[in-house]
Amino acid sequence: MEISPVDKATLAQARDLRDRFERMLREYEFGMREVETKITILRDEFTHLHAYNPIEHVKVRLKSADSIVEKVVRKGLDGDFDTIRREITDIAGVRVTCSFVADVYLLFELLTQQDDVSVRVVKDYIASPKPNGYKSLHAIIEVPVYLSTGTIRVPVEVQFRTIAMDFWASLEHKIHYKFAGSVPPRLVQQLTDAASAASQLDAQMEQLHREAHAGPDIHIVDV
Ligand code: GTP
Ligand code: MG
Repeated sequence: MEISPVDKATLAQARDLRDRFERMLREYEFGMREVETKITILRDEFTHLHAYNPIEHVKVRLKSADSIVEKVVRKGLDGDFDTIRREITDIAGVRVTCSFVADVYLLFELLTQQDDVSVRVVKDYIASPKPNGYKSLHAIIEVPVYLSTGTIRVPVEVQFRTIAMDFWASLEHKIHYKFAGSVPPRLVQQLTDAASAASQLDAQMEQLHREAHAGPDIHIVDV
């Protein structure tokens, strides 16, 4: 089959669409960086003030164009910009991994009580885990981004979890992916068991941490 050359008008239209898509992605990237900075400042200030760092690590990711298109198709949405902006709220993602469950809620409070942050949706999968055992605290927040053309508000999905929850979720994700969603029942059961072991470890570690901090401070003196 002979492929007809693309005419200039179609090419210009395709370029315009690409440019608009890239501009939209940049807005989400800026929002994501705003949230990352907010978390980093909270971490540094908290560590300075309390000599304790409640955050293990922070990961940011911008959804790729391919994943956005895949989600549009999966959800049966119209592919226009307004629909994408309205319906796809996880284009900008920030994952905050904390040491303990109490720190997860602390960070959530410290971030969401900030004046320029508004909360759209909260899903507390720690209080109500998913049937497979998945735990995390999810929030879709909105932050202002100050552009040369004016201020926009950008939604960012923030996931707060402990190291144990993160360990479990990353393995579950890999298994889910490997079996294209049809995980054998035996593995599903083992994953659910592992999730409950992870929760027990969280509780045990937090208890240990509390006990260790309830005692007198021991200062090691250099001799
Ligand atoms: P998505 O359409 O997948 O974004 O889900 P949703 O809009 O129903 O939102 P939800 O809050 O349930 O999940 C959002 C994100 O949380 C996912 O994209 C994953 O990163 C994570 N997540 C949710 N459920 C699971 C799970 O069972 N296992 C793992 N590993 N991650 C999960
Ligand atoms: Mg998602």
